[in-house]
Amino acid sequence: MNDIKTHGCHAATMGVGAVARRSGLSVSSLHFYEREGLIRSTRNSANHRMYSRATLRVLAVVKAGVEAGIPLAEIRRALGPALEGQPISRAHWDRIVAGWRADLQARIERLTVIRDRLTGCIGCGCLSLDCCAAVNPGDKAADIGPGAHAFRDCGAARDRLATQAAAD
Ligand code: FES
Repeated sequence: MNDIKTHGCHAATMGVGAVARRSGLSVSSLHFYEREGLIRSTRNSANHRMYSRATLRVLAVVKAGVEAGIPLAEIRRALGPALEGQPISRAHWDRIVAGWRADLQARIERLTVIRDRLTGCIGCGCLSLDCCAAVNPGDKAADIGPGAHAFRDCGAARDRLATQAAAD
C-alpha cells in the first residue's frame, strides 16, 4: 500500500515506509535518527509517523555526513534550522560543506597515509617484517610512545626513528 499521504510526486508528507524506500535507509535507521533528533515526525489520525518531504534532503545530508565519518553531533549542529523542519537551501548546504571540508581533507590525508604505509614498517612494535630492522631497530619506536608511529605525522615519526637510530 502506498503510504504517501497525498497522491502524486509532490506529496507533502510521507509515511516511514515511503521515506525508507526513497532515502535508501532502513526503517530502523529512520527511527534511530529520529531518536537522535536529526529528523522529526508528526502523527496522522491512525497514529502513524509522517515525515515532511524535506526530511529526504535532511536524510541525504545525514547519510553523506555519516559516510564521510562526520560525528552525529556535528551533523546535528550543522543541520541547525533544518532540525526544526526548515528546508535545507543551497546556501545552507554550501555552509555545511564548507564547515566539513577541513575535516574531510584531514581524513583523506590520514587515510592516504594509512594506505601508503600499510605494506611497510609502521613502527608498531611487531618487528615482523624484513624492513623493521632498518626502520625500527630493536623497537626504538616504543621510546616515542604507544601506537604505530608511522601512521602519525606522516614522515615525522620515521625521521625521529632515523635520528634515534643514528644517535645510538
Ligand atoms: S611493522 Fe611493526 S615494527 Fe615494523
